[in-house]
Amino acid sequence: MSELIELAKRRGYFFQSNEAYGGAAGFYTYGPQGASLKRNVEEAWRDRFVVREGNVEIDAPTVTPEPVFEASGHLDGFDDMLVECPECGESHRADHLVEDASDVEDAETYPPEEVAELIADLDLECPSCGADLAGESVEEFNLMFETGIGPGSGQAAYLRPETAQGMFVEFPRLKEYARNQLPFGVAQIGNGYRNEISPRNALLRAREFTMAELELFVDPEEDRPDLDAVADVELPLYSAARQEADGEEYQYLTPQAALDEGVVNGEWVAYFLAVSKRWFERVGVDMDRFRFRQHLPGELAHYASDCWDAEAEVDGDWVELEGVANRTDYDLEKHAKHSDENFTVFKQYDEPKTVERVTVDPDMSYLGPEFGGAAADVADALETLAERDRAAFDDDEVTVEVDGEEHAVPVEKTGFSVDEVTESGEHVTPHVIEPAFGVGRVVYSVLAHSLHTDEVDDEERQVLRLPPEVAPTTVGVFPMMDKDGMGELARDLAADLRARGIDVTYDDSGNIGRRYRRQDEVGTPYCVTVDYESLEDGEARRASDSASGDEPRAGTVTLRERDSTDQVRVAIDDLPHLLADLRAGERSFDDLR
Ligand code: GLY
Repeated sequence: MSELIELAKRRGYFFQSNEAYGGAAGFYTYGPQGASLKRNVEEAWRDRFVVREGNVEIDAPTVTPEPVFEASGHLDGFDDMLVECPECGESHRADHLVEDASDVEDAETYPPEEVAELIADLDLECPSCGADLAGESVEEFNLMFETGIGPGSGQAAYLRPETAQGMFVEFPRLKEYARNQLPFGVAQIGNGYRNEISPRNALLRAREFTMAELELFVDPEEDRPDLDAVADVELPLYSAARQEADGEEYQYLTPQAALDEGVVNGEWVAYFLAVSKRWFERVGVDMDRFRFRQHLPGELAHYASDCWDAEAEVDGDWVELEGVANRTDYDLEKHAKHSDENFTVFKQYDEPKTVERVTVDPDMSYLGPEFGGAAADVADALETLAERDRAAFDDDEVTVEVDGEEHAVPVEKTGFSVDEVTESGEHVTPHVIEPAFGVGRVVYSVLAHSLHTDEVDDEERQVLRLPPEVAPTTVGVFPMMDKDGMGELARDLAADLRARGIDVTYDDSGNIGRRYRRQDEVGTPYCVTVDYESLEDGEARRASDSASGDEPRAGTVTLRERDSTDQVRVAIDDLPHLLADLRAGERSFDDLR
């Protein structure tokens, strides 16, 4: 890790923010290389999870009024376990202290009292000052950053801990844009904020971070993914059952086999695991250091019925890069209950259906005097009972229970009736399938998996084998030397490539080998060198072209591939298309040899 952190800082991938003022833990700035790599990863995500899936994207605010999180459950349930050192006052993530010091892998699923007991049993000490932590209480700490809207006490608000609530709160409008047709997906790439107790491992646990989240709204009864499109993907699956059985490792199954064997429950989850695996491979995650791990029951977020994390191995630890969660109708139901909006879609039947509709319309002029303050609750209880058990209204009297007390009501005062109605459709609350990615974690893992040390010309070199699509710079352009017109030709070439939208670095300082090494180290997949032959080729071309009356054209250059260090000669005219094709993966360097 230290090698990567050092490279990241030296070469402008990322570094701790605000160091001039001492910095604050958990905040990172992406430097020129990192910002570009991150943008390319985001573009690849947009291409796969928005464009190719036929979904849409929104851009919602990060400051969110408190009622949203009251409804979503984050105010009550978005906590981590904290233990505070009695000596130095430093706060620590209690479950992590236990995991670091024992074989326990899932301490976050334990109740706080049990974690406190483990801290005492394990004789854990404060990592900052060494004081004894035994006997200290473990508290739940809400991770949301609190703020206020407007001056004075204003309106309570929080920085969003996930972009997802933007899609859920705006669902009443979004469903209109989707013409009330399920399934439809809404994505968002934006920053989320979590006031982590102990931020650590650079981009892996930051307090401000970029998320790329897709919320797919589906009819759970009818909508099915295209499993044929991912039929051949081998998923490395580490199910909850395997985690709980000693010594079991993850297993490889196709999406269909995983469903047939009951390892993955839910076709949409299986589908997105497969789409995600292909995508991770595309952006440079090493598939030999990758798996999907199912959440253990106690580990599930408050909104999820099932969740699988895509994990990458980095420095011996498994790092969560994405969660594919089944959020059921949890969020939309909550917002429906807490707001006045409608969070359902109207599903039209193929044919109108005649159904029996049960209603109760209690006579409040009877219920009021009879039950006093409990009258409204009795009326609600009658309605609930009628929906559940209409036979309860068969006799002259029906009994309901309110706050443990039984109330008998004459059926004639309940307004109970069963009517036949013809319905053209029904209101359905969609279920949500959510692939949610931590972009910084993906960037970090891609860097960690791409960093290699090999030997070139008997010299050790550090090389970042980033896929061309995400590499910050596609091509380095160098003159062999800045003399005899080679510099001018190289600068013209760089300007021409930039004008065509290709990311170029121009470099004429130091010997050519050093310039190659600099680009290898930042992951630039190709380098182009203008040499004397380029000038001669240009002359020869100009001579022959002028005979045919064409515009003069330049000649050839060398094109070097980063990973093999092999070089081929290519015509300058072909370079823009060639580089675009190589970057998009439509041609390979082998085609040019
Ligand atoms: N929206 C998923 C998450 O917050 O992890």
